[in-house]
Amino acid sequence: MTKEISYQKNYVPLTRDELVDRLRKALREKRFQHVLRVEQTAIELAKKNGVDVEKASIAGLCHDYAKQRPAEDFIAEIKKKGLDPDLLNYGNAIWHGVVGAELVKDELGIWDEDILNAVRHHTTGAPVMTKLEQVIYMADYIEPGRDFAGVDKAREITAADLGAGVAYQTKQTLEYLITRAKPVYPKTIETYNAWVPQYEGKID
Ligand SMILES: [Fe+2]
Ligand SMILES: [Fe+2]
Repeated sequence: MTKEISYQKNYVPLTRDELVDRLRKALREKRFQHVLRVEQTAIELAKKNGVDVEKASIAGLCHDYAKQRPAEDFIAEIKKKGLDPDLLNYGNAIWHGVVGAELVKDELGIWDEDILNAVRHHTTGAPVMTKLEQVIYMADYIEPGRDFAGVDKAREITAADLGAGVAYQTKQTLEYLITRAKPVYPKTIETYNAWVPQYEGKID
């Protein structure tokens, strides 16, 4: 059942319906449906883990806001905000989170750093993540539309221990990239070192 929240705390200068509408306009249908499922999964995980449900809803909806923007928009934003020039060596997979958070701030008027960090770090993770950041990182990975080898295991681990879920996803992602000889964004390696070894023996 879809849980719809009415926003009370002014994290965003829009109602939930208006925010959903902005996402519908920014994304193609398939991605828009994914975003709605991430929101619902994030709300569930938030309730379970003592996280602000309103923040979880907003961050869940906004995490892929910039996913379908052209490369020029990200490059312009990296320059405008003076972000790390190393970002220019990566692409949409990294930009839509790290740089997308800046577009969320500029265009949707969301200034809460916890929400922005959840958007920023949803693909790379980070060595230090708040519970909200962990919730969004995991909701994106395990929302009910996801279907890949290991997703049920990821759901089980996350239901038992949110941090263990973070470690599991991070390990899987790094394995995926390395197996395919893909570049690894340095922050993802930092995420690995901060999260994975402490769960050694518990997440395989
Ligand atoms: Fe994403
Ligand atoms: Fe996503």
